[in-house]
Amino acid sequence: MQNFEYCTPTTIVFGKGVIEKLPEVLASIGRKVLLTYGGGSIMRIGLYDKVKDLLKDFEITELSGIRPNPQYDPSVLDGVRLCKENGIEVILAVGGGSVLDCSKAIAAGACYDGDPWDLISYKVKAKAALPIVDVLTLAATGSEYDMGGVISRAQTNDKIGYMDPLLFPVCSFLDPTYTFSVPKWQTAAGIADAMNHILEQYFCEDSTLMNDGFCESGLKSLMVNGKACIVNPEDYKSRAEMMFVCTLACNNIMSLGNSESGWPMHGIEHALSGYYDITHGVGLAIITPRWMKHILCERTLPRFVKYGVNVFGIDPSLDKWEIADQAIGKTYAFFEEIGIPMHLREVGIGPERLSEMAHHVAVNEGLDSAYVPLSEADILSILEASL
Ligand code: NZQ
Ligand code: ZN
Repeated sequence: MQNFEYCTPTTIVFGKGVIEKLPEVLASIGRKVLLTYGGGSIMRIGLYDKVKDLLKDFEITELSGIRPNPQYDPSVLDGVRLCKENGIEVILAVGGGSVLDCSKAIAAGACYDGDPWDLISYKVKAKAALPIVDVLTLAATGSEYDMGGVISRAQTNDKIGYMDPLLFPVCSFLDPTYTFSVPKWQTAAGIADAMNHILEQYFCEDSTLMNDGFCESGLKSLMVNGKACIVNPEDYKSRAEMMFVCTLACNNIMSLGNSESGWPMHGIEHALSGYYDITHGVGLAIITPRWMKHILCERTLPRFVKYGVNVFGIDPSLDKWEIADQAIGKTYAFFEEIGIPMHLREVGIGPERLSEMAHHVAVNEGLDSAYVPLSEADILSILEASL
């Protein structure tokens, strides 16, 4: 077991109707609020009106239109400007991972005098960030319980995971009923994203029995509850469990004491959505089985056997290579079953820029030290197999 430090200072307020506590929580932090949100889903589900009604006594400035794969320019830059112009004391992010991530970058940028890209690109370490409270409307990324935000910069095809302990939300309100309206496609992408977060932790050199069990249960829960959410979007029990597993899946709590894996599938996917602006979870689902096939070897075989037997219930008396093959096949089949297109071409990505992306990943993502190290040629081969 490896040494580790762990601290997640975020309060989770979970369940139906918990938003009623929002004014009390915000009031303890500040009265000048930057309310951030996306393209309108919070209006359609009545959440915008609810928040405005609850916060009648607060001074609210708004930043709307934050897109999936949130952009540095204009969203982060606009948010930073609004914070500075209006003396904002707290950011209230209402939406999915993109709104939360963008708000995290704004929170740090608002307390910095230079170009916020200096912080996101790790040129300068942030000294402070505004506090963030969020109301989550989409179960997927785990941004509500982690210290990261992923920011895109179309100009340079960059998509950078920006992490800093200053970026943990102070408080996250998780009401599963706000996820009833998430469309099937987006629900499936959320399942794939959270499953991948767990797989990135599960496939490593050194793990514990407890972490393996935690990860295996998380994967099974996401598959069972995720499918139920797609069949019946208003199934509270399934939406609730899916939301909770997604929240736990990305802040490393499932792999404390494990060796680092390097999160290789995320490294590759960030190039796909950085270059082509595709849905993150869909890109991951496409990459996952191809990455698995690519890294399957004598050394990794026992991990695949464990995964196949414990997650998919494959007969442990079968030949080990057969179990691994079946496990990879079942992973692919599950994503297909929940409606994810499983080829890059289906999401508009052809062979033209694969080499360029492989180079970008090799230079920027440090995958040569991943669980199974990946060279530029390995990355290209995974991308080609995903076409
Ligand atoms: O913009 P609006 O109108 O709100 O619509 C959104 C958006 O179109 C919609 N949506 C959200 N809640 C809804 C809803 N539609 C109906 N009903 C609701 N209740 O869903 C669409 C996608 O939203 P988005 O926030 O982009 O999705 P997600 O939560 O999957 O976030 C994806 C982003 O998070 C990053 C990804 O790279 C991507 O940029 N990630 C963040 C991580 C983190 N912070 O730790 C880790 C992840 O690995 C990931 O990289
Ligand atoms: Zn992810």
